[in-house]
Amino acid sequence: MAEKLSKVRAAVIGAGIGKFHIKGFQSAAGAECVALCDLNGDLAKQVADDLGVPQVFTDYKKMLKLPGLNAVSVCVPNALHGPVVVDCLNAGVNVLCEKPLSINAAEGKKMTDAAKANGKMLMMQFNNRYRPESQLLKSYIDAGELGDLYFARCGWIRRNGIPGWGGWFTTHKMAGGGPLIDLAVHMLDLTMWLMGNPEPVTCMAATYQKFGPKMECLGPWGTPNKKGKYDVEDMAVGMIRFAGGQTILLEASWASRIKREWVYSTLCGTKAGASLERVFGFDGVDDSSIDTLEVFTQEHGVPVNRQLIVEPDPAMGRIKAVEHFCDCLLKGKEPLSPGTDGLRIMKILDAMYQSAKSGKAVNVR
Ligand SMILES: NC(=O)c1ccc[n+]([C@@H]2O[C@H](COP(=O)([O-])OP(=O)(O)OC[C@H]3O[C@@H](n4cnc5c(N)ncnc54)[C@H](O)[C@@H]3O)[C@@H](O)[C@H]2O)c1
Repeated sequence: MAEKLSKVRAAVIGAGIGKFHIKGFQSAAGAECVALCDLNGDLAKQVADDLGVPQVFTDYKKMLKLPGLNAVSVCVPNALHGPVVVDCLNAGVNVLCEKPLSINAAEGKKMTDAAKANGKMLMMQFNNRYRPESQLLKSYIDAGELGDLYFARCGWIRRNGIPGWGGWFTTHKMAGGGPLIDLAVHMLDLTMWLMGNPEPVTCMAATYQKFGPKMECLGPWGTPNKKGKYDVEDMAVGMIRFAGGQTILLEASWASRIKREWVYSTLCGTKAGASLERVFGFDGVDDSSIDTLEVFTQEHGVPVNRQLIVEPDPAMGRIKAVEHFCDCLLKGKEPLSPGTDGLRIMKILDAMYQSAKSGKAVNVR
């Protein structure tokens, strides 16, 4: 049973994507954002001033001593999720952790164990689940309108999208991998959640490193470091088989000679199929994107495609997820995206990276 707070007094660690977390704590009922911590004190101060956060820290361990603090969002580079989240949970605060949970399942297990041992909530920031079109599709699926979901293909593929070359994103020790752990994790999580979180059994995967080492296909995200290194994949493909016989085909890329960036999850059910897509304009010319949700049915013996026009959420569910975290803490509810779901994904990613190395199918442990 999760604890029930009367007020959420939250802090954020990491001032990059952490900005969305601050906004979420500020807009959630019964919550406030009392502090921001970043190793880069100037950045922390600037973001705190811009967004109206009263206190700034550069050492999160000092911040954790703030009286009454009961919730923290962890928004630091992937390799730091494990140690920082465990410190927060051991300090007695509930945690919302950015994706991915960790850099491998062994680290992730320490985090879910720490949540259990301390009786605190560990929730994943799987923001794509909180997008209105995802929520609507989930309602259709739960109402049985797609029938049994037995196959899906999903991915996030970029054409020129290597983030922060030489910085933490492209350094294996800090990131745990390339686009598979960075981008595909979003769509794999969304797809598995839509399919009812089936139990993964076996993976077969391949990874490629064709452009990163040549410093080609760089994207606008992250902080580059020309003196840094590039030792992660720039593309990954794979197949995951689940205990009930379902399969998912997955692809991820930061760099590939494709038409344009594409983010998608396409589901096949015994009654209907569905597709959630984000299609982008031409790289470097048109950064706009269009989200679509379509359902493919057979009505009166005729194949029918229904396009569901959903009011888009420009924050891509990032703020709504933080509001949900607060709501769960105030009502003593289990979150929609618990840390254990993040751990299941890490077990799959471990198996996929292992399969890519060995060239063989690998069982998920
Ligand atoms: N959900 C999403 O849509 C989304 C988008 C981008 C990034 N992310 C995830 O969020 C996390 C952060 O990514 P980002 O893009 O914000 O990276 P970033 O590099 O822009 O920001 C990370 C910040 O953490 C700070 N930091 C590092 N170590 C710290 C420490 N020990 N204490 C305090 N601050 C520390 C850095 O100074 C930096 O400002 C990653 O895990 C990434 O995968 C999620």
